[in-house]
Amino acid sequence: MKRTVIAAVLLCSVSAFAQKFEGLALTPPMGWNSWNCFGCDVNEVLIMQAADAMIESGMKDVGYQYIVIDDCWHGERDSLGFIHPNPEHFPSGMKVLSDYIHSKGLKFGIYSDAGWKTCGGHPGSRGYEYQDALTYAEWGVDYLKYDWCNTDDLNAKGAYMNMRNALFAAERPIVFSLCEWGNNQPWEWGKEVGHLWRISGDIAPIFDGEEGHGSWISWGVLQILDMRPDIRKYAGPDHWNDFDMMEVGNGMSVAEDRAHFSLWCMMASPLMAGNDLQHMSQETITILTNREVIAVNQDSLGIQGFRCYQKDDWEIWAKPLKGGDMALCFLNRGKNTEKIEFDWGEKIIKDDEFKKQVSFVEKEYQIRDLWTKKDIGTTKQIFKTKIASHDVVMLRLFKK
Ligand code: GAL
Repeated sequence: MKRTVIAAVLLCSVSAFAQKFEGLALTPPMGWNSWNCFGCDVNEVLIMQAADAMIESGMKDVGYQYIVIDDCWHGERDSLGFIHPNPEHFPSGMKVLSDYIHSKGLKFGIYSDAGWKTCGGHPGSRGYEYQDALTYAEWGVDYLKYDWCNTDDLNAKGAYMNMRNALFAAERPIVFSLCEWGNNQPWEWGKEVGHLWRISGDIAPIFDGEEGHGSWISWGVLQILDMRPDIRKYAGPDHWNDFDMMEVGNGMSVAEDRAHFSLWCMMASPLMAGNDLQHMSQETITILTNREVIAVNQDSLGIQGFRCYQKDDWEIWAKPLKGGDMALCFLNRGKNTEKIEFDWGEKIIKDDEFKKQVSFVEKEYQIRDLWTKKDIGTTKQIFKTKIASHDVVMLRLFKK
């Protein structure tokens, strides 16, 4: 009898206090994830080299901090159910790897799955959530990406809450990244469960198009950008719409990489690089480390951008920023260079969702081009520019 009462009290207190760790992602998380470039071919040397490269390339200096090992790090569970890394690929063990990453001033992320098995066929966390959360806490994990393969009839919110509660009970603050592909509208319930949620299936290194893989499809940059125009209201500090890890440096043209990066910044998406950090071209480094473009992504208001103007093959995306500034991204979706003459004149950019607006009649704004890094006049003059195919011009408007 006594034991039942104690158990009931314990259970009540766990569920009453279970919550996500608040405040771990007040701006969109920035880091690197192994999947897009290396898939299942991961090992401890590769991960350490990625950490070294994040520092040497200057990425850490501009805000990237998470080094996340995606699928396929796993070995087997032992007789007590504890998970171990693959002993051939991670012979030193995860604690040593985590210590290495931490010693560089970076943070350590790992991957699991709400189902029986991960998408790569390794042990998933279903039925082992509390045990796995304890293990991750012991390893010093700071970020968990939690996938949705092999989940049968599980209820998505319930499954993700279960892991959220397990992480909370393990008492190590861990950013919780929901990778459920948008199947069960995670934007509607994700805020109380995790810090970011994927809004789509997997990205591919394609600017405009898709790639079939039999039973599933991976998406180009524009396809993910356009997929869910109605969910920006769900995103904000500590709860982000995740447009997927980036494909910058994975084979698209420099213009396409620049556009991809700019758009992910405009959308306040998490910025997880997905390329080989050890072997980056100077162009890739320049794109990934543009501080002024990153500042748009990391703006403390945390408002996701929206399309505010469209003409022929080009359009403008807007993102209200702190202090009344506004970021604008002119995007050319078409195959030809677009010559643009944009008269700010009578135009008003209005964000009904977040109750922000700029009117160029009432106020004059100073304009800075965030890629050429030049101040280019004010909104009193007609803005004239050319945008190459699949490229962008990204501006920040400052109140005068
Ligand atoms: C997918 C996920 C990818 C990657 C992959 C690993 O479900 O969307 O980002 O994690 O699984 O198998």
